[in-house]
Amino acid sequence: MFEISLHILDILQNSIKAGASLITVRLTLKGNMLTVVIEDNGCGMSKEFVARVCDPFVTTRTTRKVGMGISLFKAGAEASGGSFSIHSREGVGTTVTAVFDISCIDCPPLGDINGTMISQFVCHPEIDFIYSFTTDKGQMEFDTRAVKQVLGDEVSLDTPEVMQWMQESIKEELEQIEANVN
Ligand SMILES: Nc1ncnc2c1ncn2[C@@H]1O[C@H](COP(=O)(O)OP(=O)(O)OP(=O)(O)O)[C@@H](O)[C@H]1O
Ligand SMILES: [Mg+2]
Repeated sequence: MFEISLHILDILQNSIKAGASLITVRLTLKGNMLTVVIEDNGCGMSKEFVARVCDPFVTTRTTRKVGMGISLFKAGAEASGGSFSIHSREGVGTTVTAVFDISCIDCPPLGDINGTMISQFVCHPEIDFIYSFTTDKGQMEFDTRAVKQVLGDEVSLDTPEVMQWMQESIKEELEQIEANVN
């Protein structure tokens, strides 16, 4: 069984390939329902293409004939009793929404979402990311634009101290809003 963090990693790769300069990942926990929204300002897809994109045989990959990222995310959400949707506009961007019922035995575990997000912040410093988590206790929001502004040009995101600080500050804020879904 795939972890939700690995699904997110897959969907982020689509946004990165689509040339996005800003990617937003929002998680919201309401009762048993966890909603994951991944939004990008990449190249988007045509209406005809997006209508077929949940089919694993629809891909623009040239290395193989199947594209699994979207169809697996959809299958994971639906298997837990949740739902899935994708909206896209050519030249504007794409929004992928997956809802999971975390009380369902078939719901994939969340996995290391913080580690996944930080790895992408570090691997793609040219892309800005917003990562937020909302529970009924409040909201954590981490915006790499604010971090980059503080660090300036001299210190990069992959500096060990910066990476550790990102880990700790996100973890601390998530604890404050009791975002403990595992
Ligand atoms: N955010 C996006 N922006 C623009 N096009 C996208 C986006 N996400 C998916 N696509 C298009 O949909 C196709 C299918 O995506 P999907 O993630 O299911 O498979 P893949 O990326 O082709 O292969 P895999 O995920 O297995 O590496 C992609 O090849 C791409 O053309
Ligand atoms: Mg993909």
